[in-house]
Amino acid sequence: MAKEIKTIGVLTSGGDAPGMNAAIRAVVRAGISSGLKVKGIRRGYAGLMEEDIFDMGTMSVTDIVQRGGTILFTSRCRRMMTPEGQKMAADICRKHGIDGIVVIGGDGSFRGAQKLSENGINTIGIPGTIDLDIACTEYTIGFDTACNTAMEAIDKVRDTSASHERCSIIEVMGRTAGHIALWCGISNGSEYVLIPERHEESDEQAIIDKILSKRRIGKKHHIVVNAEGVGDSYAMAERIEKATGIETRATVIGHIQRGGNPTCRDRVYASAMGALAVDLLLEGKTNRVVAHKNGDFCDYDIDEALAMEKDINQHLYSMTKRLSR
Ligand code: ADP
Ligand code: F6P
Repeated sequence: MAKEIKTIGVLTSGGDAPGMNAAIRAVVRAGISSGLKVKGIRRGYAGLMEEDIFDMGTMSVTDIVQRGGTILFTSRCRRMMTPEGQKMAADICRKHGIDGIVVIGGDGSFRGAQKLSENGINTIGIPGTIDLDIACTEYTIGFDTACNTAMEAIDKVRDTSASHERCSIIEVMGRTAGHIALWCGISNGSEYVLIPERHEESDEQAIIDKILSKRRIGKKHHIVVNAEGVGDSYAMAERIEKATGIETRATVIGHIQRGGNPTCRDRVYASAMGALAVDLLLEGKTNRVVAHKNGDFCDYDIDEALAMEKDINQHLYSMTKRLSR
């Protein structure tokens, strides 16, 4: 018989992402409206180990749906990687009467969630990362906001790049994934997008050739979007300037991509995922991750989800090449 869930915990782990607060609010409000007690855990697994746990009432999540970051703070915790740490985390949940826990984070955080589940705590993951690098889902909390932030920043770089007739190499985040770069490449009309999933040695020469041929037909400035996983944008800018004779600047957009008010989509999807996570706990489910696939919210077994592989959207990638000719 499924364990009866009376008290749930919620934590955020790994890199923060805009929309995490909307998910926290949804977990708290959906939990309370279903008669559950909800406990917040600060600073992810590290805070769990330190028993930084507090009761969350409905007013504890007022005025946060629109805020970036995470009111629960976040961290990376090495101790959670060890069997002792994992057992200790589960024991602390039991000590605080936490029957089920919602973990908002990326793949790494889900591995921790998997271990909590193995140690007897019902666990549901919600994909929260700007990188969109979680294979089982087409949506992750924060990706939409991060893309919009990066897109606006690139528009601004384009203004100055065009005024000075320069080439700009603009680096976006994504860790080892190129999803943000690809979406910015399209939305900013870049001449070239470099992504780790399709990176080839010959790319740099192709960029140089393209810039020179575009100059010949009258183009006065050039935008190259580079995913951080491809490599050093500053060094690349120096090489491109040397090879083309065109003044080239590198801009690394950096952590502003992780902040700011979440977009409407991030607020709505994060809310839906938070409420669904609570429903799954109420159904007695564990070791599941909430996902969005083919237009619907759904859930997957965490083991299955972690074994999936994610690729870039080839259709979009081919299209960038077609549209930037
Ligand atoms: P993300 O969740 O964004 O992928 P990380 O990979 O940094 O971020 O993971 C966040 C945290 O999840 C780690 O600091 C650690 O506490 C926990 N974690 C990551 N990998 C594992 C693992 N293999 N086993 C247990 N816990 C893990
Ligand atoms: O995973 C989110 C992310 O912002 C990545 O895009 C980036 O590589 C990494 O986190 C940066 O991590 P930190 O904030 O620890 O520098």
